[in-house]
Amino acid sequence: MPPRRLTNADLAAQLAAQGVETSDEWIVERTGIRARHFVEAGVYSSDLALEACKSALSAAGLQAQDIDLIIVATSTPDMVFPSTACILQNKLGANGCAAFDVQAVCSGFVYALTVADAMIRTGGASKALVVGAEVFSRLLDFTDRTTCVLFGDGAGAVVLEASETPGILASDLHADGKHVGILCVPGHVSNGHILGDPLLKMDGQAVFKLAVGVLEDAARATLAKAGKTEADIDWLIPHQANIRIMQSTAKKLKLPMDKVVVTVDQHGNTSAASIPLALDSAVRAGRVKPGQNLMLEGVGGGFTWGAVLLTL
Ligand code: ACO
Repeated sequence: MPPRRLTNADLAAQLAAQGVETSDEWIVERTGIRARHFVEAGVYSSDLALEACKSALSAAGLQAQDIDLIIVATSTPDMVFPSTACILQNKLGANGCAAFDVQAVCSGFVYALTVADAMIRTGGASKALVVGAEVFSRLLDFTDRTTCVLFGDGAGAVVLEASETPGILASDLHADGKHVGILCVPGHVSNGHILGDPLLKMDGQAVFKLAVGVLEDAARATLAKAGKTEADIDWLIPHQANIRIMQSTAKKLKLPMDKVVVTVDQHGNTSAASIPLALDSAVRAGRVKPGQNLMLEGVGGGFTWGAVLLTL
């Protein structure tokens, strides 16, 4: 995460100066968020991704040159094109390997993991960096208190490697484009101008209702594909958007909250970066251990959703 950290109280004070009223109490009660990190001017998704990738490579005992595939899940690319993955590849010094972005908003990381797994299984890659990186602070309307308190910036990365022992057991991805309007940034670049509103719009209650239903369905479908049951899940690592969505999903899957990795309090909703940030924090804290079964779940704009069941 970038170094600049704003607690709810810091953000409330900043918003109050613009005549927008919110409070730590409201944010914590409705979302579970206590703080978020925002980048400084001139810092982009590829910069956050670079730090996450260096850390992941070091944990895997690999060099950038060992990597033959980079997939970046992001909705906040550095540029319209080329992809953030290409910009990251150059910063890493992994030049020559395949590199592309995946755009599935907050489900981006589970989409990217599934694509990387498929490429490894079919021999298209042997060592992949899968990254979620976002600077959502640039898309926020700081006059809209219903959205600007929810999001933050960050990046997380994992290395996947070909192996005879499967790590990813099953995955399940979906999208339903009829819900485009409930969570979107409708603006676009056209003839040298931005057309439409380039700031995030969300119908929070519609998102909430959809998210809770599809997360349960995706987890159950993934378990069925892997021939497993809820009892086989050691840790649920859901997209970190809102504690109430996570509690609801855990309840539907009959999992106690002490089997759910929760880091939303520390960084808010970082979209495609939230699952790898939560995974990283749980692994480094020694809570999530090799050999355990993890259910990762994402849901977000599109509407997109999906789950990945893996053995670490
Ligand atoms: N501070 C203080 N008051 C606020 C704020 C705020 N930041 N935002 C809204 N309010 C007020 C509203 O104006 C409203 O006041 P009123 O009753 O006087 O009209 C009141 O709080 C309740 O507003 P609701 O929108 O009904 O609040 P709700 O309980 O639905 O919570 C929230 C809103 C947190 C956005 C909720 O709908 C939610 O969590 N939705 C899920 C959305 C989400 O997590 N999106 C993340 C992106 S999508 C994804 O990642 C899956």
